[in-house]
Amino acid sequence: MAEIYINDVSLEKLRYLSSTIANNLNKCRFIFLNGDLGTGKTTFVKFFCENFGISAEDVSSPTFTVVNVYSGVKTIYHVDLYRLNDIEELFYVLEGQLEDEEGIFLIEWANIFPDYFIEKGIEIELKHKNNDKRDLIIKIPENNQKLINELRRCKDGEKFETKI
Ligand SMILES: Nc1ncnc2c1ncn2[C@@H]1O[C@H](COP(=O)(O)OP(=O)(O)OP(=O)(O)O)[C@@H](O)[C@H]1O
Ligand SMILES: [Mg+2]
Repeated sequence: MAEIYINDVSLEKLRYLSSTIANNLNKCRFIFLNGDLGTGKTTFVKFFCENFGISAEDVSSPTFTVVNVYSGVKTIYHVDLYRLNDIEELFYVLEGQLEDEEGIFLIEWANIFPDYFIEKGIEIELKHKNNDKRDLIIKIPENNQKLINELRRCKDGEKFETKI
């Protein structure tokens, strides 16, 4: 896995990063979102979904439902493991859905059940920096060199100039 640190990520930058990732998945169907309460996991999902024709307004936190399903250009499964009690419950909830090879799974609090998801994915760790900035660590499978390059360019700052 390649590891990229991107500091001082504003909402605008987060939107840019999410669309860079959405447009360079290269068959990756899992995105693991880890970070304390309020660090921007759901916000990332909202921005990400816009790239698949899903309105951010239709995206809401699945804290109580465990999984929300959004139909867009691709089907997006938005999962939140925060309130799950045990791995059996998780298995029950996601059974069947994981068979959707074309779907994309965005999983908040994936680190609560670290051994459940065996397929490799993109991992994003978010850390609170201050009221309007976050620090991100993004891990990308080595077979996705294009995304690695794109994000390295973001890190250097040159791409953040672009308005979306
Ligand atoms: N990069 C960012 N810069 C500034 N504010 C942000 C950023 N990302 C998210 N926020 C703000 O932080 C608040 C919490 O975001 P969000 O609900 O996405 O967090 P979360 O990680 O999903 O929380 P939870 O763990 O409760 O699910 C929102 O008001 C959002 O606008
Ligand atoms: Mg959330």
